[in-house]
Amino acid sequence: MRGATLTGTGMYVPDRVLTNRDLEHMVETSDEWIRERTGIRERRIAAPEQASSDLALIASQRALESAGLEAKDLDQIILATTTPDRFLPSCACTLQAKLGATNAAAYDVFAACTGFVYGLGIARGIIGTGQADTVLVIGVETLSRIVDYTDRNTCVLFGDGAGAAVLQPCAAGDGLLAIAMGSDGTLGEVLEVPAGGSSLPASAETVQARGHFIKMRGRELFKIAVRAMEDSVRQTLETTGLSVGDIDMMVPHQANQRIMDAVRERLGLPAEKVIGNIERYGNTSSASIPISLDEAARAGRLKPGDHVSLVAFGGGATWGAALMRWTQPAALQPVLAVPAAAAREGGR
Ligand SMILES: CC(C)(COP(=O)(O)OP(=O)(O)OC[C@H]1O[C@@H](n2cnc3c(N)ncnc32)[C@H](O)[C@@H]1OP(=O)(O)O)[C@@H](O)C(=O)NCCC(=O)NCCS
Repeated sequence: MRGATLTGTGMYVPDRVLTNRDLEHMVETSDEWIRERTGIRERRIAAPEQASSDLALIASQRALESAGLEAKDLDQIILATTTPDRFLPSCACTLQAKLGATNAAAYDVFAACTGFVYGLGIARGIIGTGQADTVLVIGVETLSRIVDYTDRNTCVLFGDGAGAAVLQPCAAGDGLLAIAMGSDGTLGEVLEVPAGGSSLPASAETVQARGHFIKMRGRELFKIAVRAMEDSVRQTLETTGLSVGDIDMMVPHQANQRIMDAVRERLGLPAEKVIGNIERYGNTSSASIPISLDEAARAGRLKPGDHVSLVAFGGGATWGAALMRWTQPAALQPVLAVPAAAAREGGR
């Protein structure tokens, strides 16, 4: 198998800021409660004319630019989201059209907040086996469209945004070293949007019952998330023979500052080794890791050779972690050991 690494990253968040103070006027809550229980101060909200693909477009263009590539260079587009523009076609295809990525196969991944990590797992596999050379993985959400702004249990948590990464081949032993992916469908109702799918199609009744919004059992999720995130990180360490002490930076899904702190403490990582921006963006689900990764890379917090651990948990329930040896996007010369076209023709 060839290695696969990130050769470009990009992010985009909408301009509109929704602060905790704003939410105080919408539901019975307080800035103090939200900050203490979640670490969030504000989140971004997409403009009415912005759909998920519009946010994804800007993040993708920035990722391509940082990789020194054009949209036509893409072989595949893997888009992780819970809030596609429409159920049909996929959000990835809509993005493909907007990007002009005419040579790419495009499809969505539905794995809630873990979607970006799942996308990395898929991309690593198809690059490793030579099915594709250049893959764009995106996490994008317009959660404000499925958040009930009369429900204080959920509306304080979520925000909108997009993050993207370009993946290309690299020498084995660099880039993505290990990916752990897991799920437990018996926990589906802990975090769900009950209506709008084939089990409860949209009707006047489902709209009346607010069934198209996120319902969450937060306290239950909290405990499951901490355990699953810790286990996923340990799994990737075991696969690679590395230890917690080898992790230079952890980029956790930004669900709740207390969840991130608990995972960090259980692993025994110092606070300065954990990237966080939940204060500014809230929980942007599948977008939170690629947004954090791009911010960290551009701020110079990730050095070539660093072991970077990405870890997520989300609805499904789903969870996963990726452990990589960081390669500097702009400077990287991808090693094309097996040209993708030859691999495809050879029926590999
Ligand atoms: C949602 C979450 C912040 C709630 O924090 P918590 O400390 O568990 O709080 P609880 O659910 O125990 O609620 C404590 C009290 O605060 C109240 N409360 C809930 N939301 C509130 C809000 N926005 N403002 C003020 N009070 C609120 C509750 O009604 C409850 O009141 P009660 O004791 O009178 O019933 C926390 O459970 C969490 O982050 N869970 C994980 C959620 C998550 O990550 N989801 C996405 C997965 S990717």
